Amino acid sequence: MVVSPAKKEFTYSTADFEAVRKKLKKLTGINLADSKDSMVYSRLARRIRVLKLGSFLQYLTYLDNNAPEQEEFVNALTTNLTSFFRESHHFDALEAHLKKNPKATKIWCAASSTGEEPYSIAMTAVKAFGKFSCPVQIIASDIDSKVLQTAREGMYRSDQIRDLPIEMKRQFFHRGTGNHDGKVRVVKELRELVQFQKLNLMDDSYAIPKNIDIVFCRNVMIYFDKPTQLDILQKIVKHMAHDSLYIAGHSENFGHVSQVLTPLGKTIYKPKRG
Ligand SMILES: C[S@@+](CC[C@H](N)C(=O)[O-])C[C@H]1O[C@@H](n2cnc3c(N)ncnc32)[C@H](O)[C@@H]1O
Repeated sequence: MVVSPAKKEFTYSTADFEAVRKKLKKLTGINLADSKDSMVYSRLARRIRVLKLGSFLQYLTYLDNNAPEQEEFVNALTTNLTSFFRESHHFDALEAHLKKNPKATKIWCAASSTGEEPYSIAMTAVKAFGKFSCPVQIIASDIDSKVLQTAREGMYRSDQIRDLPIEMKRQFFHRGTGNHDGKVRVVKELRELVQFQKLNLMDDSYAIPKNIDIVFCRNVMIYFDKPTQLDILQKIVKHMAHDSLYIAGHSENFGHVSQVLTPLGKTIYKPKRG
């Protein structure tokens, strides 16, 4: 075990880590590597403290008997790293696509985390159409209810938009004052372009519209094993329109799903029709 017994506030065995790993995989599809042993300890120790329990074993029993705790468990263990215009070439490609196809467009951001990605999509759409009232519908979803709350609020630290051009900062963010000093908030017109909803990619079916034109599903598939990736992709593709695009993260390799997606370059794919 990685967490040294001397440092442990709560009893935590290898069997506890295995039980957490199994439960997380079942609830989210996420495969935790062996090296995540101490991350699991520190993140769940917070829950054990809040619940005033004495050990991981007690926590796991509590989790089995208290369904609402499952949401806290999932929120505690997801990795939500994201940023505005992460992998910026995808937003250049999106702008070019929208300019070339200036029609009503449905975009689904399928692991939207704290909102930086869907708001980057919205900023790109406004830039492409030159106005806030653009014909783009953006659905943003995530399994983690806590990140969705942050995303809906659209409030960020000022340093998170440090690298954005000054005109974008002016057009798309309000600077916080008083209690919100050092923060910025996405303007209402941009927030209104994005609908956030909770969605688990492991569910049998997805409560989102059909005929999605562009799917952003970036940096989430890396947490799933290959059979799970294939299963999820098959479900996502059912929601995609003819001539649609699937945009993946830079480290997501879909060589094993060539029956579902055809690569177009730069981790952009189109669905294959059967
Ligand atoms: C590393 S973040 C990626 C955020 C963003 N797509 C990006 O590329 O910057 C991964 C996100 O996937 C979400 N996630 C993990 N498992 C999921 C599942 N089964 N269904 C939906 N979202 C999931 C996590 O909650 C997290 O917010």
